[in-house]
Amino acid sequence: MTGKTFPLSKEELEAAAERFPTPFYLYDERAIRENARRINSSFAVFPGYINHFAVKATPNPAILRLLREEGFGADCSSLTELLLAEMSGFGGEEIMFTSNDTPSAEYRKARELGAVINLDDFTHIEFLEKTAGLPEMLSIRYNPGPLKLGNAIIGNPVEAKYGFTREQTLEGFALLKKKGVKRFALHTMVASNELNTAYHVETGRLLFNLAVEIRQKTGVSPEFVNLGGGVGIPYRPEDKAVDYGELAAGLKDAFDSVMVPAGLEKTGIHTEWGRAVTGPYGWLVTRAIHRKDIYRSYIGVDGSMADLIRPAMYGAYHHITVAGKEDAPPAGLYDVVGSLCENCDKFAIQRPLPAVETGEISGDLLIIHDAGAHGRAMGFNYNGKLRCGELLLRPDGALVQIRRGETPEDLFSTLC
Ligand SMILES: Cc1ncc(COP(=O)(O)O)c(C=O)c1O
Repeated sequence: MTGKTFPLSKEELEAAAERFPTPFYLYDERAIRENARRINSSFAVFPGYINHFAVKATPNPAILRLLREEGFGADCSSLTELLLAEMSGFGGEEIMFTSNDTPSAEYRKARELGAVINLDDFTHIEFLEKTAGLPEMLSIRYNPGPLKLGNAIIGNPVEAKYGFTREQTLEGFALLKKKGVKRFALHTMVASNELNTAYHVETGRLLFNLAVEIRQKTGVSPEFVNLGGGVGIPYRPEDKAVDYGELAAGLKDAFDSVMVPAGLEKTGIHTEWGRAVTGPYGWLVTRAIHRKDIYRSYIGVDGSMADLIRPAMYGAYHHITVAGKEDAPPAGLYDVVGSLCENCDKFAIQRPLPAVETGEISGDLLIIHDAGAHGRAMGFNYNGKLRCGELLLRPDGALVQIRRGETPEDLFSTLC
């Protein structure tokens, strides 16, 4: 069983909610740093290992800066993510630019920053050459198609819009070499929120075998192989967390048996994990304001799916605890809902919860767990909803606002 924890007591959380309006996201800096160190020490078996943190997961410079201090790079997928990485101090090949359907302005910004550009399509070799020029270093995103089963969130690789086919990958490296590119990398991303270590090891083996074939057929030796993101987190209390040591050891075995005999032992290993880095160390805090009993019982909170869309979008489970009532017995089954005019605006469906007090001032604070990645980042403004603010709990216990909540003026500021 995975114990779901929260770093503040009920009293500390109530005091925070007096200073900062609910709902808000709260991130635990100490826990994120400790997790980053566990990742780096497990993967130290690969010299030069680097995780390019997926900026899309938690696009806040306060988080990005602390991850940079822990030795992480950044993985960007858009112009504004490149700008965020830049303002957070990242530069050069610390940045991996993995985008698709890419506009030329984004390639130009990636070139300006000296990022490693990860091409998503064969036609982009010429597009990049014409619009931004070919850099000395380029990476190719491989889509294994029928050679690899995808998983629930990311889908079947055959149906995925991303990457080069196997043949295109081989032809692509040959063409890049012909065009004078000097340094190369190979990338794939075939899973999302995958808890099965063996799945990730097999992805590694697939890429290692391909790297060997690329070398044999084109003479190109990838400088590093990027295994992408997609490592899962235990959203449900009964889920088992991925053991980083076991994962790194499995990948090392595959590397030693495939890459070393082929003379590719100097190839680096990179990843671009997002969820596994910050997911478990961020929470959405929201106050229970209404209770409604019709055919079912509802707890209405002041947050909505505009703050956290994962349950509505993927049917994703997020554990919910009630501050100060963590050990109280369930009082019934509730749908925990927001105020959006969409019936899928539910954080939980038929969830056993203790008796919940409601009220705008005196209502209980509900803690929605594992919201630290792909949470606030996927927020939106439908129904005129204003996206909430973000707080960072510093290691010394100070609570710092790292993004304020939106105001009506923010929402209207783009109107002409
Ligand atoms: C190209 C790419 N890399 C990395 C990630 C990060 O994935 P995760 O947060 O699941 O590790 C994503 C997520 O969508 C992605 O699209």
